Parts: sequence; C-alpha cells; structure tokens
Amino acid sequence: MCGIFGYVGGRTDAGKLVIDGLKNLEYRGYDSWGVACKIGTEIRMEKDIGKISTVDSSAFADACSLAIAHTRWATHGGVTKRNAHPHMSCDGTIAVVHNGIIENYAELRRELEAKGHAFQSETDTEIIPHLIEEELKSTDDFASAVRNACNRFEGRYGLLALHTLSQTLVAARTGSPLIVGGTRKDGYFIASDIPAFMDYTRTVQYLDDGEMVVTDGRSILFTDIATGEERPKREIEITWTIEEAQKGAYKHFMLKEIMEQKESITRAVNQDEEQIMTLAEAIRNAQGTFLVGCGTAGKACMAAEYFFSVIAGKHVNFAPASEFKLYHHFLTSRSLLIVVSQSGETADVLEAMKIAKSKGSKVLAIVNAKGSTIDREADYSLHINAGPERAVASTKALTGQMAVFILIAYALADKLQEGKTLLLETGAKINDMLNPRYMERIEKLAERIQRKQDLYIIGKSWNYPMAMESAIKIQEVSYIHAEGFAGGELKHGPIALIEEGTPCIALVGKDEVTTDILSNTIELKARGAFVIGVAPERYDVFDEWLKVPEGGAAQPLVNIIPIQILAYFLAVKRGKDPDMPRNLAKSVTVK
Ligand code: F6R
Repeated sequence: MCGIFGYVGGRTDAGKLVIDGLKNLEYRGYDSWGVACKIGTEIRMEKDIGKISTVDSSAFADACSLAIAHTRWATHGGVTKRNAHPHMSCDGTIAVVHNGIIENYAELRRELEAKGHAFQSETDTEIIPHLIEEELKSTDDFASAVRNACNRFEGRYGLLALHTLSQTLVAARTGSPLIVGGTRKDGYFIASDIPAFMDYTRTVQYLDDGEMVVTDGRSILFTDIATGEERPKREIEITWTIEEAQKGAYKHFMLKEIMEQKESITRAVNQDEEQIMTLAEAIRNAQGTFLVGCGTAGKACMAAEYFFSVIAGKHVNFAPASEFKLYHHFLTSRSLLIVVSQSGETADVLEAMKIAKSKGSKVLAIVNAKGSTIDREADYSLHINAGPERAVASTKALTGQMAVFILIAYALADKLQEGKTLLLETGAKINDMLNPRYMERIEKLAERIQRKQDLYIIGKSWNYPMAMESAIKIQEVSYIHAEGFAGGELKHGPIALIEEGTPCIALVGKDEVTTDILSNTIELKARGAFVIGVAPERYDVFDEWLKVPEGGAAQPLVNIIPIQILAYFLAVKRGKDPDMPRNLAKSVTVK
C-alpha cells in the first residue's frame, strides 16, 4: 500500500536517496508522493499528486543527512497535494509520514484544535505531528514525545518522524510494517519494504508491532512503545538478489512473474517433508480447520477446500479474511487457522489471526514474503518460495499457494510422494506450455476481444474458484467488466446477461465434472456466446481453444495460466499499465 522510506547517517544525499528508494516501492500502488529533508535547522518539504517515477531526484541534492519520504494511497481525504505526506506541526519543526489508519483521529483532532492547532489537510495522519508538538511541551526529548503520542493512538500505524533540532530519525509501528536496514557504518534506513534500500545494504532488523526505534545513524535503540523497555534485535542478511526483484528483459513485472511459473511451482513443492507431515497431522487432529485469505490468496483457499475434500476426504472451511470476524463463535483452542498471504502484511488476515489467537487456536501461515508480520506471528509457517512478486496482480504466488495446499492434502491422504510427483510433473508441463507460440496465440485472442465490455468465466469444482480468480485478474488490469461463476449457477440468473458475441471462458479439466461443465458451456453457446475453452482437449462447443496440459488435481494451476496471460495482453492492448492498476495496491495494510 503506501510506501515509507527514511534515512539518517553519514551520507549527504539523503533527499535524493529516499526518493530513489521509493521508486523501488512503486509496485505497491499509490496516488501521491512527498519528501521532507532536514537541511541545517530547516525542513525542505515537497509533495505532489502523481507518480514519483517522474520526479527528478537530482533536484534534491542539497547537503542533507536526514530525510523521510512517502507514497500515499488515499484513505482519509481525497487525492490532493494537501493530503499528501509528510505532514507538519504548526511551528514547522516536526515532519511525519505514516501508513495505516489512526482510528481515534477525529477525537484527537477536536482536542488539538481546542488547544489552538491549525490543520491543513483532511487526513488522519496530520494529528501525529500536532500531537507530538503538544507532547513536546512536557518533555525536551523528541523520541519521548513521539512515544507519548503513539500511546494515545488507536488503530494501525507505521510512522517516521523527524525534528529540525534533532539529528535523529524516530520510527514506530503497530500494525503496519517497518524494516530497518543498514549498520553503524552505512547509516540506517527505515522502510515499509526491503527493496527501498536494497541498493545500499542487505543487513536488516525487523521492527515488531508495539515497538519503536530511534537512530542518529551511528547508534540505534529499539524499545517497547508502551513501557520504554529495550527490545534486543538480531541483524539478518537478506539472501535474495535485487535482480530477482527487477524486471530484467520483460516489459512488465506481471509478464515476468507469469513466466517465472516455469520454476516457481517446483520451488513451492520443495518443502521439508517432515514438516508437511506434521502439519497434515495437525489438520487431522484439529477440531475444525479454517482457511482465510483475501482476493487471489482467498481463491487459493477456496480451491484448497476442493483439494482437501477430493484428495483427502477432509472438510475444511474457507472464509474471506474480512468476513472471519464472526467465526470466533466456532473457534476453540483445538481449532486450526490456515492463513494465506503473498505479502504477509495484509491487515484483514492479521485481524483474523488475532481473533484465532484470542481463542487459543493455532495458526499456520502459507506466505511468500519471509520475515513479514504474518510469517513471524504465525505458530507455523510454510514459505512458497516464489521470489519477490512486484506486479500488483498476483500470479506466481497463487500457483505456489495452491501447490502447497495440494501437497498438504496428499500428505493428509498418506500419499505425499504421489502429490509431489504430480506437482513436479505439472511444473514441467507448465514450463513447456509457456513458449512464444502459446503467448502469441493468446495475444491474438486478446486483440480480438479487447473492445468487449463484459466477459464471463465459468468453472466447476476446483475450477470454480479459478473462474472467480480469472475475473479478478481481468478486472484489475484491463478494467473490462468480468465475472466468474460456477457453471451450474448460470441458469439461476447470470445466463440472462449473455448476448450474441459475449465472450465467455469455460475452464475445463478431465475429471468427473467434465460432462457437466461442457453442458453449461453449450448453454452459453446456445445464447450466442463466443466461447473460449481452456481445456486439455478440444470440444466442438469451443470457438477458440486454449490448450492446457492435463493436470489431474493440479488442473487449476494449469488452467489459470492462460487467463493470467490473457489478462496481461488485454491490459496492454487497451493501453493500461498492468503493473500498476488504478485504485489498487500491492500490499493492503488497511482493513
Ligand atoms: C489480486 C491480488 C489481491 C491479493 C490480496 C491479498 O491480483 O493480488 O487480490 O491477492 O490483496 O494479498 P496478500 O496475498 O499479499 O495477502
């Protein structure tokens, strides 16, 4: 979601550095940007709406060793220059950037206004510098004033603050990620995500919820926000390369990440077998297993309901993370919650974990981002090892998540090796499928349907969640109205939408529901639909056939790939940037 980056240390190009670093977080999605540089005892602040990629960072070359910057994704207050961060105190000595939402901001704002503070924006964030300013009336220490202010906030925050009279960078977090990079030698970088500072350091320390950090670039102190007690930290070296996080030869991250599925599925399958067996045992013994995730990760959970049922005869319950709140009635200390998240920072998922933990239930996380909050807060974690996913639209993370679920389902059925073999074979088939001819074919199809306003996708069994996922992919990057249905539901309503030439995609496998889904496809065709079949075999009902290999229980992994490619080309043909869809963010750290 919003990006945060700050630096303090021996370098004298801090303003330029934080702007360049934020450009590496562009994939998170945002609508405005801003920077505050401490120059002598003044703050130079610049902010605007629009893309930070167009900002010439060399214009921030003043001698500066302490700076903070932000890219904002609007929550409270519209997309305006005034609402962009940083926000300042009345006297202009304090600058703050913030991710998250301060839920009691209206009450705090009224209190501060009554004391004479004047506000310039509609944001919740602006109360932070004003409250720190107010706290500084009772302490000389800037960090203590920040701590006292934080102790009055309700909600979620990851914030950076600086003061004109102090060469320190202060950061605090509750609910929104912040990671510290660097060493005494390099100075310290604090960002909402690692790629911001990967050009400078690979040494990181994670700030946990309820903690703050104060650094002057040479020394660093982590403390508990509430008690002020010191929190010792461990320096960790990150192992992934910056190249892995960059586009390479591809025009867009989305395309690169689709193509990476040639290897990423195999990496997801390569799990510690003993751990998989232990987790399968935990599911077997749990009195109720619940799966939660959001958006695409939620669709992996929905598909997993079918994997567990068909492969292992085990009933599990899926709920979108944002709908999990009322499930607390079903939770006990013997329940198991499985959460799925690419970023490991999704607020709704963290909330679901909190609910489960309050009931004493255990939490297993299936995540991509190692060291993320969800990864660290879960009782057990499995990493899908897909490598950094930067396009807003999730692709390789989804297939990795489903691969891990299939593996666990086979382990639960005491057939782990059979599952592993199936998935490795599927990985190899996907490798063959992703060839230039295949891509060209789908590009041509995108060319043909790019001007259509509506598109419908049907599936059955584990291809039903993939129909819904197909709709998400097409909506978010191409902005075509797309909807995914269970094939059997068509005749209960949606079939009324079909007109002559409406493009409809049928996701088909070779299994016990093939005849049913083909019957549904015939129903579409009879109403004039232009039918695109994604299937291992060609059937007469298809106007266009996107051939996929036969995948058995891994069919959904295979079937979703041509749709990811189609969504990508639809976006490109319609002149949209598939990596940065409007209104969306990569990491959704607000509820
Ligand atoms: C869609 C997409 C989103 C995410 C969702 C959860 O392409 O990427 O629907 O899947 O926001 O994000 P994570 O997996 O990071 O929890």
